[in-house]
Amino acid sequence: MYKVIKIDDGVYSVGCRDWDIRDFHGYSTYEGTTYNAFLVLGEKNVLIDTVKETFSDELLTNIRRIIDPKKIDIVISNHTEMDHSGSIPKLMHIIGKDKPIYCSKMGKKNLKNHFNSDFNFHIVGTGDELKIGKRTFSFIETKMLHWPDSMFTYLVDEGILFSSDAFGQHYSGDLFFDDEIGDQIIPHAKKYYANILLPFSSKVQALLKDIDKLGLKINMICPDHGIIWRDDPSKIIKAYDKWSKQDVYAKAVVIFDSMWESTANMAKAVAGGIESEAVNVRLMNTRKWHRSDIVTEILDAGAVVVGSPTLNNGIFPVVADVMTYIKGLRPQNKIAAAFGSYGWSGEAVKILNGMLVEMGMEIVDDGVKVQYVPDKDDLKRSFDLGVKIAKKLKDKLS
Ligand code: FEO
Repeated sequence: MYKVIKIDDGVYSVGCRDWDIRDFHGYSTYEGTTYNAFLVLGEKNVLIDTVKETFSDELLTNIRRIIDPKKIDIVISNHTEMDHSGSIPKLMHIIGKDKPIYCSKMGKKNLKNHFNSDFNFHIVGTGDELKIGKRTFSFIETKMLHWPDSMFTYLVDEGILFSSDAFGQHYSGDLFFDDEIGDQIIPHAKKYYANILLPFSSKVQALLKDIDKLGLKINMICPDHGIIWRDDPSKIIKAYDKWSKQDVYAKAVVIFDSMWESTANMAKAVAGGIESEAVNVRLMNTRKWHRSDIVTEILDAGAVVVGSPTLNNGIFPVVADVMTYIKGLRPQNKIAAAFGSYGWSGEAVKILNGMLVEMGMEIVDDGVKVQYVPDKDDLKRSFDLGVKIAKKLKDKLS
């Protein structure tokens, strides 16, 4: 579905909407995504990033609506991941393999590794500029946001920041700008941050400070996914500052799975205890909530409580899936506890506690174990666990 959007004089968004994608590396993309690419016309015509290989014909059709693709003189590759570089081989075949590709040092290495091709690479780093007639492109390396090769391209006089994965959202729709969609885009941006950039939060903090130091005038932010921030780019910059500081509030996420409702009933009791202390709580059954939605809720929660029955001397598989996912994203500033029912061996709570410690969370209680079915006293112990967690969290935040 072809669509070209003019975003400034001689600057066009020529990327593609992936309406159908619902799983992006284990991240649920309920509203699809976009692979944004940008065409900047001038004395030389520049294409910033490409799209996933399966959308390469759509990219070329979009470009043809503006210029003959052969008239592209320079390609800038901000990031090697294949949702942005996958169409480079086909594009270079059409526009000429000798045309220059500007990228970071790691970008060159990674593009060579991905496509087994030695293009006409020009390595750029922070502070380097490319002057073409009236336009000046400047480059800022943004290692690990999202890969070691990542960088931003900044169109100096126009104040347009092409930010690759940063400030993006997995959202594909009929609206293209922040002023069109309003604040309903923020939960998409938050989910994207929690699932993609969270492990690199210290680098986000450093980057925001660098942007400040460089005194960049940012009139517009064009990420490679989702909508363009043209009306108020400071809104997403401020949100990134908040998310990357990993500030938490009086909120707990109770994650659980259950075989015969015993652990589920304990989870409800734990949640009840937390709420009784006026701490917000999200009760998230791992077989009903997607792992990427769970981690989005964890981003600003001060407490994580995990429940699992013991199954074959271990924890439940879906709980293990979610715990593995959370561990990789390295959320900070959490207190934690575990609970669960068991039949005869009962290892789950101990295993969960070990996993929570490995994640760097502060365990505030040994946890609650219940054999078979929780009775009134067991549910009271579960409720009390919730109360204890809530009180500890309030103390920590006070
Ligand atoms: Fe959208 Fe790291 O790629």
